[in-house]
Amino acid sequence: MDISHTSWPFFEESHREFAAKFSKWCGAAFGPRTRGTDVSSVEKHEHDARATDEYQRSRKIVKALGEAGWLRNCVIAPHGGSREKLDVRTLCLSRETLAFCDGLADFAFAMQGLGAGPVSIFGTEAQRAKYLPRVASGEWVAAFALSEEAAGSDPSAMAVSAAKDGSDYVLSGEKMWISNAGIADFYSVFARTGEGPGTKGISAFVVGADANGLTVPERIEVISPHPLGKVRFDGVRVSAEALVGKPGEGFKVAMGTLDVFRSTVAAAALGFARRALHESIAHANSREVFGQKLCEFQMTQDKIADMATEVDASALLVYRSAWLKDSGADRITRESSMAKYYATEAAQRVIDKAVQLFGGRGVVSGEVVERLYRDIRPLRIYEGTSEIQKVVIARQTLR
Ligand code: CAA
Repeated sequence: MDISHTSWPFFEESHREFAAKFSKWCGAAFGPRTRGTDVSSVEKHEHDARATDEYQRSRKIVKALGEAGWLRNCVIAPHGGSREKLDVRTLCLSRETLAFCDGLADFAFAMQGLGAGPVSIFGTEAQRAKYLPRVASGEWVAAFALSEEAAGSDPSAMAVSAAKDGSDYVLSGEKMWISNAGIADFYSVFARTGEGPGTKGISAFVVGADANGLTVPERIEVISPHPLGKVRFDGVRVSAEALVGKPGEGFKVAMGTLDVFRSTVAAAALGFARRALHESIAHANSREVFGQKLCEFQMTQDKIADMATEVDASALLVYRSAWLKDSGADRITRESSMAKYYATEAAQRVIDKAVQLFGGRGVVSGEVVERLYRDIRPLRIYEGTSEIQKVVIARQTLR
């Protein structure tokens, strides 16, 4: 992957060194993913299984990333992490690079960070000591359980409850669209504890997947396969030690975590778009049509110019947001929403142009641009739809 943007002033020398090393490692572990040779070293004995079981493959990727030490960037020091605070630029560079190579690898990495995010950012020392080193080593897989069937864009409408019983809490209800449902070792769960209405009466918990009464009643198949499903809580009893943050402040835990990770979704979109541009350049320079190279037609150049500009504009928004957070900003709500909104929408346009440049090949199953076309679509929806990002940006701007 072209990492020349790491010379921008948003980055420090440590980021440049990281990007060079990590993209080399990813190139060896996951690439090249092209038709016919779509097998990475992480999965070389698993080629046939991959199509049928993304669940297994996802766990293997987490293990490989953990063993190589890259998941240390998903948690904080001294609990297995590489730094005392999550470094958003490193998280973004990681996701950009992984998405360039392999959508499932990006997903597996991202969920370690997001699932453990509430514990990293708001957890007690005991929670950090218990969960984070295992997330960093790849031994434990993490998940973030916020959404419900009737509470996606509006999590304040959630119905999953956590009733106080002595010093314990008893969780009941069902979460939906939960990434890593079924393979996670623990879940960051948001539930209504009733201290107040709407956003005020929600608390955050960290719950082991082996808790009595916790089940995964359904897996959900999606266009870009990854582990996803429903998680049910039938009277799941947890002690007060499972509370993350203060009772009634779970909404702030959720939003504060999303503030950090929304920029990384934008970075993943940037990685997909960068890959589409990379494939398009190679194709346009080699494909002959009407007796000349595809790249010699102005209509091709028009597309390449739009794609390159949107890739750079996305990168500027992504790394501005990440740099701001790393520089000590308390909230980057506006900047991370702008990055997520723009980069995911732009990546969809960039990839669509790549498919058009590839013509018939662009829609053949297994082609890189065909895979990217499916991989990018969920990013305009998860961790806050484009419409929600616009609500957030408009509110912040009007304020
Ligand atoms: N950081 C800290 N606190 C925040 C915050 C932030 N980024 N955003 C809001 N808050 C606080 C506010 O300050 C406010 O506190 P006070 O009442 O003390 O002032 C409180 O939270 C409520 O805020 P709002 O009044 O703005 O809340 P709202 O109900 O109007 O919601 C929203 C705002 C931005 C639309 C929010 O509901 C939202 O972000 N929705 C999208 C949810 C989402 O991203 N879902 C995705 C699920 S996770 C996922 O997708 C993971 C996956 O699968 C991979």
